[in-house]
Amino acid sequence: MKTIEEYIKTLSLEEKTAQLYQAAAFYIKATEAENTGTLDDICLSKEQLYNVGSILNVSNVKEIKEVSNLCVSGSTAKIPPMFMLDVIHGYKTIYPIPLAMAGTFDESIVEDCAEMAAKESVAGGLQATFAPMVDLVRDARWGRVMESAGEDPYLGGVMGRAQIRGFRKGGLCSCVKHFAAYGAAEAGKEYNTTDLSDYNLYNFYLRSYEECMKEKPELVMTSFNALNGVPLNGRTDLLIDLLREKWGFDGVVISDYRAITEMIAHGFAEDEEHCAEIALNNEVDIEMVSPSYMHYLPKLVKEGRVSEEKVDRMLRRVLQLKQKAGLLENQCPKANEQKENEICLSSEHRSIVRKAAEKSIVLLKNNGVLPFKKTDDFFVVGDMASEKDVMGSWRAHGKAKDCVSVLDGLKNILGDTLQTDGDIAVACIGEKSYMTGESASKVDISVSKADVDLVKNLHEKGKKVVAVIFAGRPLVLTEIEPYCDAILYVWFLGTESGNAIANILFGNAMPSAKLTMSFPRAVGQCPIYYNYFSTGRPKKKDDYHRAGDYLAAYQDEYNAPLYPFGYGLTYTNINLSSLQISNTEIEENGSLTVSVLAKNEGEYDGEEVVQLYVQDKFGSLVRPVKELKAYRKILLKKGESAKIEFALTEEMLRFYKTKDNFVSEVGEFNVFVGLNSRDCLMETIKRI
Ligand code: GLC
Repeated sequence: MKTIEEYIKTLSLEEKTAQLYQAAAFYIKATEAENTGTLDDICLSKEQLYNVGSILNVSNVKEIKEVSNLCVSGSTAKIPPMFMLDVIHGYKTIYPIPLAMAGTFDESIVEDCAEMAAKESVAGGLQATFAPMVDLVRDARWGRVMESAGEDPYLGGVMGRAQIRGFRKGGLCSCVKHFAAYGAAEAGKEYNTTDLSDYNLYNFYLRSYEECMKEKPELVMTSFNALNGVPLNGRTDLLIDLLREKWGFDGVVISDYRAITEMIAHGFAEDEEHCAEIALNNEVDIEMVSPSYMHYLPKLVKEGRVSEEKVDRMLRRVLQLKQKAGLLENQCPKANEQKENEICLSSEHRSIVRKAAEKSIVLLKNNGVLPFKKTDDFFVVGDMASEKDVMGSWRAHGKAKDCVSVLDGLKNILGDTLQTDGDIAVACIGEKSYMTGESASKVDISVSKADVDLVKNLHEKGKKVVAVIFAGRPLVLTEIEPYCDAILYVWFLGTESGNAIANILFGNAMPSAKLTMSFPRAVGQCPIYYNYFSTGRPKKKDDYHRAGDYLAAYQDEYNAPLYPFGYGLTYTNINLSSLQISNTEIEENGSLTVSVLAKNEGEYDGEEVVQLYVQDKFGSLVRPVKELKAYRKILLKKGESAKIEFALTEEMLRFYKTKDNFVSEVGEFNVFVGLNSRDCLMETIKRI
């Protein structure tokens, strides 16, 4: 077996180039079928393709072995290809979409699910996933909010790190994406341009990628978007100065799908050759699918426009990644068809994702109708009642036939004695899976007219309405909210969806999840988020809207969201009191203790998420009205109390005053503790 340095010494420039190329699986297989039509679209020969360094989107372990054999036997370099896939929230046993998982505020469950998915993926012959996606999102019109952790930079970093740890425990390499600020697409329109001040970029949009570096992900993916006029594959300051030099990332940078040659359509590169020159000089190590490296790298090196030393550095990183995945020793090192069949959809894996699903369901409203008693006289209606495709977007190899619908889940508890009519209606409504994810931006994010009519009609007939809402984004619920006696926001929960929903409806599991995106009252409020800037004319109260106020407000809608970041109810009633701070002053590198008393005054045991926010009241730059800095998920039995403590450090008060100056400034800070970002206890401290 050759060493990496021996490969670098002996590979031809064309063979080196192929290692920096990632092909879609169908191109490789097309060579087998002599289907040159497919190859013409990338203008590559069979020989070139067989030398490819990595391959994405292969459908199963049998195909992976077949494609790997095709490459190794047909190639000259004889280096097995690496296989990657978007395992975003499950491989075959699917767990809730990441936007829902973040709402658990429970890194351990996120880590457990990622580890489970990794074990299934590795048995399926994969070596890397294109996850975690940690783009900050503030606009529910964008379809890919479902893949993110929502609008808070701190939570995005926490959840991204948990996924990387979980994937690694399961033997899978991770890819932090999409670097950078893809989620800031103007007007929530997919692939749209992004334009951010350095202040906004460094204090909000870059934080989660930066945080993920602490877990040493193997890959980072560059994003499609132009940022301040330059497509990301052209942003030397971010790809080299920040990612590689300041953050010290020494893994592999891979482009998004054809993103490198899309610099032509962006109007940033003249032609394919220019695209390759730009991206290579920014050390985008792997080009995904578009063939500009394959067509022009050797020419660019021969003309001295890209140094071979740089190519060798890029090649070294790719070979180090493949060595780590065991590919320099064996083909498909851990692919195991029998093991894949044993563990995928096993009862153990189903129970892991069912628990995650139960903990991802957000209770938005409950006037006492929930939890059901077995004697409750309810019936089930709505499009989503029998729907088995409840996986949302990016479901990898998940299949609807393996999923549990709401009706299935209720029958698993009640047997077939499910009522046909009663005084409580469970209305299963919302989006279909295909309405969210990539290329699924929408200008109207209201609940559909058919669903509104259904809920109103049920209400008018005197039924109590329990709305069970499926979605991959915050929907505008303003019109149906008044007609619902309870609202369960169930997102897309994956394989065990119906069982989890049934368990929550009957109180076999308790709702505990929170929202990680603000829910707009109207789409016109988008982008809407909790960590906003005050403005010079803040509107103090949100109980009216009218013309002529000359305040930072709308004439026709409240400023506040319908439901704020961090919001979610339980079946019990946990209250906070006695907020105390150990010291009213904090100095550089100092720390103090914030404590609060939590008491379960309700009728059930329950979990709550106690959240700590700060506000820098006065700074050399205006500062957000609130920023999440820590949280504690607590379980309190009925009648139980507990004192919850947080360490508040001076580092938590810091911000990027400039991109190279991460400091806190002297002055007063408000300290908030609450069960959501709106209803908080507050004290004030002083940074001295
Ligand atoms: C897609 C997505 C990216 C994904 C890649 C490979 O276009 O933008 O998130 O990892 O292509 O499927």
